[in-house]
Amino acid sequence: MESSDAQDRVTHRPVMLPEALAWLEIRQDHWYVDANLGGGGHTRAILERGGRVLAIDRDAKAVERFLEESANRYAGRIRVIRGNNAEIARHVHESGITVSGILFDLGWSTLQGEESERGLSFSEEGPLDMRLDDTTPETAGDLLERLPEGDLADLFSEGDEPLAVPIARALVQARKAGRLPRTTVDLAAFVSGVYYRKGFRRSKRHPATRVFMALRIRVNREYENLEESLSGSRQILAENGGRLLVLTFHSGEDRIVKRTFRQWVMEGTAAFLFRKSLSPGEEEVRENPRSRSARLRGVSFGGP
Ligand SMILES: C[S@@+](CC[C@H](N)C(=O)[O-])C[C@H]1O[C@@H](n2cnc3c(N)ncnc32)[C@H](O)[C@@H]1O
Repeated sequence: MESSDAQDRVTHRPVMLPEALAWLEIRQDHWYVDANLGGGGHTRAILERGGRVLAIDRDAKAVERFLEESANRYAGRIRVIRGNNAEIARHVHESGITVSGILFDLGWSTLQGEESERGLSFSEEGPLDMRLDDTTPETAGDLLERLPEGDLADLFSEGDEPLAVPIARALVQARKAGRLPRTTVDLAAFVSGVYYRKGFRRSKRHPATRVFMALRIRVNREYENLEESLSGSRQILAENGGRLLVLTFHSGEDRIVKRTFRQWVMEGTAAFLFRKSLSPGEEEVRENPRSRSARLRGVSFGGP
């Protein structure tokens, strides 16, 4: 039986694992890039099926954890890089490997959400940090201190926040009065207050969900990184052929992937593996509610 420690330990469940593996078509001893190592769920599954993996994560802790827990077991078939997947083409080039498939599983892991000092989750009291990589210069708190009202409103709008303008206005007023929220819980309560004053008394999700997402996206330059990493992936796979699979978790990132794939298909560079995005099945959503917003898209490159 597992010890209660092991049972209590937080893990990150890999999302849409069977679908991702099936569409990657794992082949014995071929190299695959897991561009978002996280808790290592997808990486381990590829290794268990006989593939080799170059895994990337910008979070030093994710890399250390994987190296400590799993790297020895797969020695010779795994390489782990702490870095930004926006530089995927350089990482692959420097590794000197030929890649048959690339998987992106965007965003942040359950493990990072549990680290309250990162400030990613509003249910955990923590500082307004939100950096996935501690070498990133600006935190979410810095942005709230620095940005003018119009820029704050634009930032929240990018996260599809319907009350972007009143929230930005209220934050700037609070800043002038020296009462800017300093912690995750404070900011969540602050945003809820704006919703309440605007007459929104009930909502399915917490009113601060989109504000938190928008800040995290900006702090970590997630849209810019996604654009660059897709372009790098195309560079890698167009050389020898292979498959590219991307798991997204909200409409902003899904829009970028959809537009980019459609453009490649129109140009004749790549072909859709499946035309419409795939979603997790009911059973997965029941067992792992975090997976409910996942969308999987995939294309293949023919190679020479
Ligand atoms: C959803 S988790 C991946 C979970 C993983 N597939 C698993 O099954 O355990 C996303 C991971 O991507 C990392 N990440 C986010 N943006 C990144 C970037 N631009 N470059 C490299 N890693 C990134 C995060 O630090 C996080 O660990």
